[in-house]
Amino acid sequence: AGQTTMQMERTFIAIKPDGTNRGLIGEIIARFEKKGYKLVAMKAVKPSKELAETHYDALKEKPFFGPLVEFICSGLVIAMVWEGTGVVKTGRQMIGATNPLESAPGTIRGDLGIDVGRNVIHGSDAVETAEREIGIWFKPEELVDWDQTVKQWIY
Ligand code: PPS
Repeated sequence: AGQTTMQMERTFIAIKPDGTNRGLIGEIIARFEKKGYKLVAMKAVKPSKELAETHYDALKEKPFFGPLVEFICSGLVIAMVWEGTGVVKTGRQMIGATNPLESAPGTIRGDLGIDVGRNVIHGSDAVETAEREIGIWFKPEELVDWDQTVKQWIY
């Protein structure tokens, strides 16, 4: 009883308000599902200013911090936790470069965006950042333990 298993790598992914407003939620989730990563948690929230400021705390000295926070709070964000081998780095590769004009075709931003301030999606840049961001957006009990609860009945 109470045996703990080695935890798989997890990342925090958020579809930004431009992505939800443009109807790209399904497209983006499908890419992570088809890649083979597992959805561990998801919620749709219109973030408070406090939540957005906490999330982007490392950027608070940047000139675009104010507009970025305002943008993130302007509509619905789809906050998600995805799990699987290498999901942090591979998730970032799937997202593409920050500036959609420089992100490769085939990536989410490369295929779906143009504007750096409206770049559709956020993904954690490191495992430690992912842990921090997951903790900001989710309570531990909101994350599914895929090993314990799901594997048993997928054949
Ligand atoms: S930096 O300066 O290298 O730390 O920034 P970078 O890693 O390129 O980007 C960090 C996040 O800030 C967003 N960003 C912007 N938002 C609005 N306007 C401008 N000009 C802008 N420049 C960068 C960028 O999309 C990153 O957001 P996330 O959500 O983390 O991807």
